[in-house]
Amino acid sequence: SWSMENVLDQELKVIKETVGPEDHVICALSGGVDSTVAATLVHRAIGDRLHCIFVDNGLLRYKERERVMETFTKDMHLPVTCVDATEQFLSKLKGVVDPEMKRKIIGKEFICVFDDFAHKLEQEIGKKPAYLVQGTLYPDVIESCPPPGTGRTHSHTIKSHHNVGGLPKDMKLKLIEPLKLLFKDEVRQLGRILNVPEPFVKRHPFPGPGLAVRVLGDVTEGNALDTLRQVDEIFIQSIKDAGLYDLIWQAFAVFLPVRSVGVQGDQRTHSHVVAIRAVTSQDGMTADWYYFEHKFLDEVSRKICNSVRGVNRVVQDITSKPPSTIEWE
Ligand code: XMP
Repeated sequence: SWSMENVLDQELKVIKETVGPEDHVICALSGGVDSTVAATLVHRAIGDRLHCIFVDNGLLRYKERERVMETFTKDMHLPVTCVDATEQFLSKLKGVVDPEMKRKIIGKEFICVFDDFAHKLEQEIGKKPAYLVQGTLYPDVIESCPPPGTGRTHSHTIKSHHNVGGLPKDMKLKLIEPLKLLFKDEVRQLGRILNVPEPFVKRHPFPGPGLAVRVLGDVTEGNALDTLRQVDEIFIQSIKDAGLYDLIWQAFAVFLPVRSVGVQGDQRTHSHVVAIRAVTSQDGMTADWYYFEHKFLDEVSRKICNSVRGVNRVVQDITSKPPSTIEWE
């Protein structure tokens, strides 16, 4: 009969049969549930012939690298190398304001970092890694080849930077996609059976280009990234404290490159505006803005302005998808 336990046994069997006893496998961990579950599955099947990389591109959330690495190593015992490529990414993004350009640059830099990792690993193990694990889900498979006439091309574009077609050519990596027949909720179930920590299993989705698409305009301007991290952390923590996290598909803050006048203490200020956004959704294709209680919004707004330097105004995004997208860029 069909159960997640059977899916797990079947997947482990397939991976063991596919990957030869001497083969090594690499995997890029994003910190999200899909790549984490995919890597855990492969790790269970072949042990430390799996080699993971986690890239800090300088566009991650508050303390994300530390938090995610701690979970990977201490709780899950995954073999993972952390690469801090902050300077590399941010120097390439300087002055860039076009959202698609940001995505292209980030995708290209990621491939450089990954390429470097793969080649260093080759030196270390004395042979080329044979396989690459990807956390591709069933909806991604459909979206990458949208049935004709459905007009589902937008999601194809959004996923373009995840495309690893440009990976090291001399590596000739074959793909392992253990989740490619599963939907997101099934991946979460599988994660639970594999003892992936619950907070990880329930994590909201986060876009590959990270905060680059949540700082509107040039992400390297002033303290935009740090400011956004602080605001986002307050918003998300408040949502968790209020017990609302699991009711929401995605929640985040956006840094706006505009200033407004405020009065803080005895001072007239001319500081930044941030937006907060929370939506419910089944699959991210459509979404409804989430209805917070006034008291909650009031507290979040006060907390943000009182504790984040350089912010004197908070607005809420009350638009659904369509006509908006979930992200602002
Ligand atoms: P939009 O903003 O298009 O987003 O309504 C739909 C879902 O996709 C995520 N998203 C991305 N994910 N790379 C990703 O991996 C991207 O470039 C990207 N852009 C948007 C978004 O967070 C939402 O979950």
